[in-house]
Amino acid sequence: MAEAPTRDGGDDVERTEWRWLFAMLLLLAVMMAVVVVTSMAQALHPPSNVEAIDPVSLHLAGEFIESNLGSALEPDGSVTVRMLAQQYSFVPNCLTLPADTPIKFRVTSPDVIHGFLLVGTNVNTMVVPGFVAEVRTRFATAGEYTLPCDEFCGLDHHDMWARVTVVPKDQFPQLTSTQRLRCGPR
Ligand code: CUA
Repeated sequence: MAEAPTRDGGDDVERTEWRWLFAMLLLLAVMMAVVVVTSMAQALHPPSNVEAIDPVSLHLAGEFIESNLGSALEPDGSVTVRMLAQQYSFVPNCLTLPADTPIKFRVTSPDVIHGFLLVGTNVNTMVVPGFVAEVRTRFATAGEYTLPCDEFCGLDHHDMWARVTVVPKDQFPQLTSTQRLRCGPR
């Protein structure tokens, strides 16, 4: 016959339970404190650079007007790409970019949160309305890349994607601005 726990044994169990409860609460308090302190003191932000923009008027003036979208060759030889992510397309949705060149993507949204994923590269960011998402990369080789929206943004989310064609570095400067916005081989 199994021995019934003595009075002392029961107290032991209860003491252990309280001890674990206390340890858990302490751990919880420490983790909460870390979140609060880092967000207040070190500015915890969305995973992108923190650059605010008015999502309502970005079509009308400033960096993201239609004529300024696409790629721009900078004086230092790097390329800056400006794009809009909106329900349910990227503007522009076709891009040609040079290989082996520093590329800076600047993307913003006029409506809801979108994703910006360049498959096979380090580029993967959220595009939050009110902010400019900035990501840098460099394509090692020429080729075709797909750029789907990887953040659910509405009924037609699955149709929201762009195509990036990467050409050898020396071909890029010879392309016209129209050719730089065309999909596929030319
Ligand atoms: Cu935009 Cu999903």
